[in-house]
Amino acid sequence: MSKNIKILEEKIKQAHLGGGEKRIAKQHEKKKLTARERIDYLLDEGSFEEIGILVTHRTTEFGMDKQKFYGDGVVTGYGTIEGRLVYVFAQDFTVFGGSLSETHAEKICKVMDLAVKVGAPMIGLNDSGGARIQEGVKSLGGYADIFHRNVKSSGVIPQISAIMGPCAGGAVYSPAMTDFTLMVQDTSYMFVTGPNVVKTVTNEEVTSEELGGASTHATKSGVTHRTAVNDIECLEDVKKLISYLPQNNQQKAADLPYSLGDELREGLADIVPESSNKPYDMHAVIDGIIDQDSFFEIHKDYADNIIVGFARLGGKSIGIVANQPMSLAGVLDVDASKKAARFTRFCDAFNIPLLVLVDVPGFLPGTDQEWNGIILNGAKLLYALSEATVPKVTVITRKAYGGAYDVMNSKHIGADLNFAWPGAEIAVMGAKGASEIIFRKEIMEAEDQEAKLAEKEAEYAELFATPFEAAKRGFIDEVILPKDTRRKLIKGFSMLENKEVLRPKRKHGNIPL
Ligand code: COA
Repeated sequence: MSKNIKILEEKIKQAHLGGGEKRIAKQHEKKKLTARERIDYLLDEGSFEEIGILVTHRTTEFGMDKQKFYGDGVVTGYGTIEGRLVYVFAQDFTVFGGSLSETHAEKICKVMDLAVKVGAPMIGLNDSGGARIQEGVKSLGGYADIFHRNVKSSGVIPQISAIMGPCAGGAVYSPAMTDFTLMVQDTSYMFVTGPNVVKTVTNEEVTSEELGGASTHATKSGVTHRTAVNDIECLEDVKKLISYLPQNNQQKAADLPYSLGDELREGLADIVPESSNKPYDMHAVIDGIIDQDSFFEIHKDYADNIIVGFARLGGKSIGIVANQPMSLAGVLDVDASKKAARFTRFCDAFNIPLLVLVDVPGFLPGTDQEWNGIILNGAKLLYALSEATVPKVTVITRKAYGGAYDVMNSKHIGADLNFAWPGAEIAVMGAKGASEIIFRKEIMEAEDQEAKLAEKEAEYAELFATPFEAAKRGFIDEVILPKDTRRKLIKGFSMLENKEVLRPKRKHGNIPL
């Protein structure tokens, strides 16, 4: 017995050393934490319980039978974040470059299965050279086993991927199918094929960073939802993100303590400029409405003409989708529609109520947009907001023009409460464009065409560029004072707390992809 205890202790010691001290030092030189250090930082102190510490690979070819490391390049198990159960895997780059073998994949699948059976978030810390080259198709099969579980878990438990090193080839598809992908600047990259293959196939010269670094995916592709400057910040982001989410799709996110007292926010009245063509920062509106410093933005640097993120309102976790007049006048385009649709669907899947803030001049015109499918992509957002059954509340702060009015959580597509600020303009289009079309003849015939256009524009604006026509019809439930917005929303979401929508049986809808 005591002999076996000693053997066990020795094995655990070896497992904790991963690929050995030299490789750990190399990992630190690259300003990266090791897999175990990452888990320790992520989870509550002392809460981690490891599963499969003594697993080793089964390959004998290429001298692999002489190279075995306990854990086989991935640390898996469970623990807590702020007392809440989560499952985690962290790839260990010090063991065969964190590459994925058959057994490495089996370990990941085991915790993924537990996470979905128990109903708790799954967090993957990725740092891997990809498929274990010595194993060939067994490793590819391992990836597919993980992909299949990603899909089966989708919409059941939150899945979060932190990319903290290389993630290339087939490996990218697991993070892509999870709910959120976070990356670390300078030390992580994701691509389907690396720079060398790119050079061979397309003759393009590109660095790893340009091709698939954090800033590329944060700004150009939208693959990553948040970028951190180092491992610690990335793990902090994971913890913060988890704090807004429920454990699974049967639960609601826990409320934070909140006491009434700061509902009136006078400053909200000063944000929207007098001139309807002047930009303003919708972040100021968001901050003016929500609990102090509670906004956690997603996809901050991608399609910044729309803002999405989580916040707390009266202690409750909510998702916010908001046009951003500071960027492209807040217009909806292909990327903004995709970004907001994906976020909306996440919130709906996990019972997180949605607040939609509207200041939208319409959809972006042009060949670029049409040829890139603004029809299908705009439809994604329309579809996502229409199908969402969580409490949905809209505030129109200024413009709500044309089809974009319908799309941005209008009453017609199922919003529960629709508010507008007194300066809101709810119309088919702006007064100038509208007048140029419907009064063209009159304007052409006028002696002073400019004066006539201005006169007609004012006439049109007076009649239609207000929230009152929409309020008359009940499309807007209430025109509210900006300062009163927070109070109205806290009360509104509280009233909607037990909202339930039953839908006819179907396998799944067919969202335009
Ligand atoms: N399979 C098996 N071992 C791998 C591996 C893989 N896919 N990727 C890396 N390793 C091993 C290396 O042999 C090395 O082993 P060692 O510590 O015994 O010397 C260790 O992991 C670290 O790799 P190294 O190349 O020294 O690290 P790096 O930081 O310089 O480069 C990569 C990292 C990922 C860019 C590089 O290792 C690489 O290109 N790997 C292959 C990627 C690939 O083509 N994967 C298969 C297709 S998905």
